[in-house]
Amino acid sequence: MSTLRVAVIAGDGIGKEVVPEGLRILEAAAKREGVSLKFEAFDWGCDHYARLGRMMPADGLQQISAHDAIFLGAIGWPTVPDHTALWTLLMPIRRDFRQYVNLRPVRLFKGVPTPLAGKEPGSIDFLIVRENNEGEYSEVGGRMYAGTEDEIAVQQAIFTRHGTDKIIRYAFEFAARRKNKLTSATKSNGIIHSMPFWDERFRAIAAEFPQVTTEQYHIDILTAHFVRRPESFDVVVASNLFGDILSDLGPAVTGTIGIAPSANINPERKFPSMFEPVHGSAPDIAGKNIANPIGQIWSGALMMEHLGAKPAADRIVAAIERVLADGSTMTRDMGGTASTVEMGQAILDAL
Ligand code: NAI
Ligand code: MG
Repeated sequence: MSTLRVAVIAGDGIGKEVVPEGLRILEAAAKREGVSLKFEAFDWGCDHYARLGRMMPADGLQQISAHDAIFLGAIGWPTVPDHTALWTLLMPIRRDFRQYVNLRPVRLFKGVPTPLAGKEPGSIDFLIVRENNEGEYSEVGGRMYAGTEDEIAVQQAIFTRHGTDKIIRYAFEFAARRKNKLTSATKSNGIIHSMPFWDERFRAIAAEFPQVTTEQYHIDILTAHFVRRPESFDVVVASNLFGDILSDLGPAVTGTIGIAPSANINPERKFPSMFEPVHGSAPDIAGKNIANPIGQIWSGALMMEHLGAKPAADRIVAAIERVLADGSTMTRDMGGTASTVEMGQAILDAL
């Protein structure tokens, strides 16, 4: 295998603390499996904005378009409005690189305390497939009569046949490789145009996968099912907004958002895919060396798998499992006292 080039954007807040842990574990796992990785760091984010007035250089996307993957920490800091930070760095990467699939695995690990009573480790193990390029998160819309009593805000959701079919088909293909079960998140009772369309496309594509059992729920009751019987899900497909909400809830029921990973994938591999934890920059705990680095580290495993280095990915996940099951090194969000660096070191040792 030739050298894999990875663009690293640590970003803001705890991103700067968890990314170094992710990198040293990736390095060690790659070395063990004979994979050659080359990291190249980009100091983009809110500090870059403070210095230069923008989150990344004007030719930022060009600088990373030829890399094999992007490894990202988190973006956002109170000095920059969240929508500015997001829409001038993270969103351009996800959209211009057509990373229309956002994969977010949810697992209950042995050793991690869960807010749900009576759930066995391993019983919760599912995957959220979130549409990542369109839907409710669109730039189309505007404001009129700003600051007056007649003020209007219009936000347009966009569901293309192309985009809807691609994400639903991807989810079916995934389900067919797992347990042949797919759940669709909808809201066709309240959202009268886009969600009935989503349901229609879901049914049309289901016909191509007769072996896959399907179910669909309105998003409101689906959130309740996530809490009451999370073990009944295997693959869940959702629009951009619904998938975003479900993918904070999923990790929360399995203990902590601090361990949740995600992959932003361009399935055609025309552009690099991006791997990042589900959590944000957590300004409330940033700079204290207490953030849980597992979401970042597990995202590294997803990256190795995407790059064709499955043994290195499996090795990282096994090391995480071992440290969590052992329980002597736990960060605060999991009821322990270990620091970010101590947690990284424990996983490195387990590796
Ligand atoms: P957040 O995920 O940063 O934090 C939510 C809560 O979870 C906080 O109490 C935080 O301390 C805790 N938490 C998060 N990650 C943790 C970890 N690894 N270990 C232990 N505790 C952890 O979400 P929030 O507060 O809504 O957003 C903060 C900033 O991050 C905002 O600027 C937001 O826009 C940005 N953000 C960026 C994302 C990204 O880069 N993909 C995703 C979500 C938010
Ligand atoms: Mg989110």
